[in-house]
Amino acid sequence: NLSEQHSLVSNWVSELRNVDIQGDRMRFRRNLERIGEVAAYEISKVLPFVEQEVQTPMGTSLSKLIANQPVLATILRAGLPLHQGLLNYFDKADNAFISAYRKHNKDGSFEISLDYISCPELENRVIIVSDPMLATGSSLVKTISYLRNEGHPKEIHIVAAIACTVGIEYVKREEPSVTIWCGDIDDELTAKGYIVPGLGDAGDLAFG
Ligand code: PRP
Repeated sequence: NLSEQHSLVSNWVSELRNVDIQGDRMRFRRNLERIGEVAAYEISKVLPFVEQEVQTPMGTSLSKLIANQPVLATILRAGLPLHQGLLNYFDKADNAFISAYRKHNKDGSFEISLDYISCPELENRVIIVSDPMLATGSSLVKTISYLRNEGHPKEIHIVAAIACTVGIEYVKREEPSVTIWCGDIDDELTAKGYIVPGLGDAGDLAFG
């Protein structure tokens, strides 16, 4: 939980949730982007580094560099601002885009439909999947299982702005090896799959 230690992240999450501030779409997107940037920084601390000598004008420096660039994968459309934040920091990363949405049935239930996917080589790569809302967790589990079929990723990280306890448990059950990084955690999920208090519909708030 990125806001556990009373950092700026909790201020940004608070603004994302606040109905009096949400109308400012640019701020809403930028707050998601900033959470993506902080998540990138935190994840970078657990990635493998290699040492390399770098020539400076005054001599040589033994620098620590990220061993391999991660693949940044996001779920359209609400994932885009969070993804941009990750890409601002992992600025040499490869990118994957997945379109997943809730296809509602007449009885009110829904399934996750995966339509469009564009993804680079995933073999032995670190993948960072971003989606602002981890509600039931179905979109992420379905997306990750698709990505696993495309190659054999070395490790997978999930970045969400708000994650729901039930969804976190579901993802951990289905994908025990993934690491989840989130801006905040909420305990309630409605029967229709909405997080409470949550923030509403992230896709609509970011893009209309
Ligand atoms: C929202 C959200 C996640 C998904 C989370 O997307 O962005 O992708 O729901 O729910 P889950 O954890 O229960 O799968 P939505 O279908 O509203 O599409 P949008 O991004 O286009 O708004």
